[in-house]
Amino acid sequence: MEQPRSFSEKEINPLESLDQWEDAVLERYPSPESIAAGKSTDEYRNYDNPERDTVREFYRLNHTYQTYDFVTQKRADFLQFNKKEMPVWDAFNFLNQLVDDSDPDTDLDQFQHLLQTSEAIRNDGHPDWMVLTGLMHDMGKVLCLFGEPQWAVVGDTFPVGCPYSDKVVYPEYFRNNPDYNKPEYQEGTGIYSSGCGLRNVHLSWGHDEYVYQMMKNHLPEQGLYMLRYHSFYAWHREGAYEYLLDDHDREMLKWVKLFNPYDLYSKNPVPPDWNKLRPYYEDLVAKYLPDTLKF
Ligand SMILES: [Fe+2]
Ligand SMILES: [Fe+2]
Repeated sequence: MEQPRSFSEKEINPLESLDQWEDAVLERYPSPESIAAGKSTDEYRNYDNPERDTVREFYRLNHTYQTYDFVTQKRADFLQFNKKEMPVWDAFNFLNQLVDDSDPDTDLDQFQHLLQTSEAIRNDGHPDWMVLTGLMHDMGKVLCLFGEPQWAVVGDTFPVGCPYSDKVVYPEYFRNNPDYNKPEYQEGTGIYSSGCGLRNVHLSWGHDEYVYQMMKNHLPEQGLYMLRYHSFYAWHREGAYEYLLDDHDREMLKWVKLFNPYDLYSKNPVPPDWNKLRPYYEDLVAKYLPDTLKF
């Protein structure tokens, strides 16, 4: 009898770290300043670049395995929030166990990315709930620490249960997805009605939906859109899936767009001075969030 094949760690989790996906997004959507400065992204566009192959393999897995049924199962499991409960500040330490061992010199830990995002928002004078949104936006990556594969945590999100858009990065890999051959998903507007609103649409499962559900009673609607759709680049950057939107989504889009540059372009090799910032953030967290978070 044929033995079930075993898979190497690299086959399951091709990225050296989750940051590799975010770096690839940054290459795809360079900051206006780097475009103006004529900074080249040639290195990335070189098809022999092994990092590019890694990212491509990551999307192959993501697009192959994120089926409608997979999303439904993950929601049923993780949205019970019965895995762990801890004080908010312990949750940041927990998230920081996601260590990037590939490149310790250039990459800051997860908390530094959150803090740089929130500080950039604060420096631009946005409301405090948006600062907190920046601080929390990638907390959903703790999914990795619950043993979830990278392709079920990060990556551009896309709707499931309706036709795939070629505005999603590497759309050719959707052909490997079992849903590709289901007419009820791939014809017309799929299982959704036209203009049903994104709240009625299931996106591929990952850290966005998870953190949205975690925060949904604690932040204003604008912040919740930022959390829930920050990786839905096909919508907020490419304008795809118009037929799913309602007026409320169209109204909220500007907030998602407002948030995106802080996520993508706030990276700085110099970490913020946490000891100085600490009192502000302790007050901010206490103002909006409960003492403990459920995962
Ligand atoms: Fe994210
Ligand atoms: Fe982020």
